[in-house]
Amino acid sequence: MAGIKAFVDSCNGTLSSVPERYMMPNGAADVSRYAVLPIVDVASESFERDLVDACTKYGMFSDLQLKNHGIHTEDVMRCALEFFNSPSEDKMRYYTEEIFTPVRYCTSMMPSKEEKLEWHDHLQMWLKEESLGAHPWPAFPASYRDVGSEYARNIFKLGKRMLLVMSEGLGLRSNRLLEAFAEMVLLTRANFYPACPNPRQALGMEGHTDSGGLTFVLQDGVGGLQLKQGEDWYNVKPLEGMLVVNMGDQLEVLSNGRYKSILHRVMVNSKSSRLSVGAFLGPSLDAEISPIPELVSQESPAKYRSRTYRDYMPTKLSYFDNMRQLQATAK
Ligand code: SIN
Ligand code: FE2
Repeated sequence: MAGIKAFVDSCNGTLSSVPERYMMPNGAADVSRYAVLPIVDVASESFERDLVDACTKYGMFSDLQLKNHGIHTEDVMRCALEFFNSPSEDKMRYYTEEIFTPVRYCTSMMPSKEEKLEWHDHLQMWLKEESLGAHPWPAFPASYRDVGSEYARNIFKLGKRMLLVMSEGLGLRSNRLLEAFAEMVLLTRANFYPACPNPRQALGMEGHTDSGGLTFVLQDGVGGLQLKQGEDWYNVKPLEGMLVVNMGDQLEVLSNGRYKSILHRVMVNSKSSRLSVGAFLGPSLDAEISPIPELVSQESPAKYRSRTYRDYMPTKLSYFDNMRQLQATAK
């Protein structure tokens, strides 16, 4: 299983139908609606206030976009693309389904265990702020180490700044979420979605929520990311240089459900491949994550039980089962 890109490439433009294994039972209906996400300017003097406003606009925000974040998005995207465009045998040196390996190249989510596969390959890395230089970065492209380290440093910085504000948004002291996150980890995941002969049958990524705390997504101009709000799916229009931010499951648990981890998925298209890079800032893998005690009371009992991010992660194949499990045993 060298990945979907290798398979599509090997067909030399003659692939005319979606292989069985990629045909999603319910297909992927196209939608024409677009999500309206608040845009927050990181460089503005009113950044903190604007973020709080965005946080409280819909009760609590689930998604927003950041501009002027100072992150060199083109460099990160270029490195990821160069990796995916490298020979398959080179990429296969990093192939593993093991979820916690520092560098993992894989296809779909966990192909040996999935009945249906998602139409993407990915390169995933677990990063810690203090050891970015020592991380076993992929050997190609050669610039990955420098570009990736700078990108990760900037995401750590931006994420911490946001978590301070988001703590206050919960009525807590500003460093409360940072304390709960303890020694943060950053999971980065570059995704390559080849063009697909029948985009109504396959999905780039099935509907899911992110396991981590705060997610930052960079996407090229192709589009395909969709969010579910209420009963409906909405496209997220790709805007150049913008970082899409959404909440992950760990923040939903810590905030006792006041911040919501949003359901999203990725559509593919027949004209073009697509590239995205997600950065998932999460708590220490071994910290117990449960609703912050200050947010729990008789009127507002704990909605989720305690679990470490590490224990939560491998069962993440189904968000719904996972969340149901956490909720069912809360008391
Ligand atoms: C993801 O959901 O992590 C990927 C998002 C994307 O490809 O836009
Ligand atoms: Fe996601």
